[in-house]
Amino acid sequence: MTMLSSGFELSVDVLRQRQNVKWGKYGADVLPAWVAEMDFAVAHPIQRTMERMVADHDYGYPNRGGNHGDGTLVEAFSNRMKSRFGWEVDPSLILPLSDLVQGTFSTILALSDPGDGVILQLPAYPPFHEAINSTGRRLLAHRLHPTEDGWRHEPGSLAKLVDATTKIILLCNPQNPTGRVFEQAELEEIGRVAIERDLVILSDEIHADLIYGGAKHIPIATLSPEIAARTITITSATKGFNIPGLRCGVLYFGSAELKARFHARFPARVLGSPGITGIDTTVAAWNHGQDWLEAVLEQLDANRHRMVNFINAELPAIRTSLPEATYLGWLDCSRLGLSGTAHDFFLEHAKIGFSAGEAFDPNGHQFVRFNFATSGRILDQILGRMADAVRSNARG
Ligand SMILES: Cc1ncc(COP(=O)(O)O)c(C=O)c1O
Repeated sequence: MTMLSSGFELSVDVLRQRQNVKWGKYGADVLPAWVAEMDFAVAHPIQRTMERMVADHDYGYPNRGGNHGDGTLVEAFSNRMKSRFGWEVDPSLILPLSDLVQGTFSTILALSDPGDGVILQLPAYPPFHEAINSTGRRLLAHRLHPTEDGWRHEPGSLAKLVDATTKIILLCNPQNPTGRVFEQAELEEIGRVAIERDLVILSDEIHADLIYGGAKHIPIATLSPEIAARTITITSATKGFNIPGLRCGVLYFGSAELKARFHARFPARVLGSPGITGIDTTVAAWNHGQDWLEAVLEQLDANRHRMVNFINAELPAIRTSLPEATYLGWLDCSRLGLSGTAHDFFLEHAKIGFSAGEAFDPNGHQFVRFNFATSGRILDQILGRMADAVRSNARG
């Protein structure tokens, strides 16, 4: 395998050989910077876990402790929440699952009815739109606006959105695609409105491992017992440790009452359960992957500065802000004066596959989401191609 200097970077040749969506979607002339996967080799403890499983032909139904054979995962989640956030979770309220989007859909189906309102921060991860729209719920858009301190809600705007049939606030923290990490006061406002208007908070915290210096992730369920009691948190090791294809995550109910309400409509069996590769690698990541994560975060930190500094210096018509978390940049290209969408422009003229802004916000045609979790060399190529395309477009 062709490795570069940092020990986890992979060459373009290796990346193109892998059968994943990121490198498989576009032709060989395109550099992909879209779906949330990193172009990095995984932590050694994860790789060793897979190798052991293969060597032992360990492919039976999992028997890893606990009532459902996934006790090691429940324990690793509990320990990680305690060590990272000082959060004491109740193991009986943890529901392991294979797919966090399943967790979003099932929560919306279980805890609201067709026609009910679900509040969603905009712009938002596309499956959140789908989870609300395809189930016949009403999407109530809680817009984030660009400010000097990154993307923020207008203070007081949340309470105004809630109507008589609003049931759920879908929170994404850290936020995809803007990279915001919500501060305590912002989370407290969400919690206060949820309590006053009797709403469930569905908090997707999948990006919580990918935080840069200066920002602090606060699981909203840790703010108070009253907020916890109405919060379902979903998280996994898949983004932080780059194992999305291994399909494993956790849904955590903040109270037994919430869990009972969920299961009354959605028996656990409907969700299936994670397989052994997902369980064991997630446990390896959470228990033994921290050194790797910190090394990767150093590289991502350098990349986010490189991306923003380059854009500010060379492409000042594109507006963006430094993400506080995630490896995703949210780029406003509306001042480029493009005739079509920003995604199509960069695909056609720069041969870069970004995520299309309109998938995150119906008004987002002039935005793209930039996945910068790649080697410095590939990142520089992407930035160079962007600059060339924008300059030749400006020359007409
Ligand atoms: C906010 C958010 N939630 C959920 C997911 C899906 O995670 P998974 O496919 O690992 O369940 C992603 C993937 O990018 C995401 O960004």
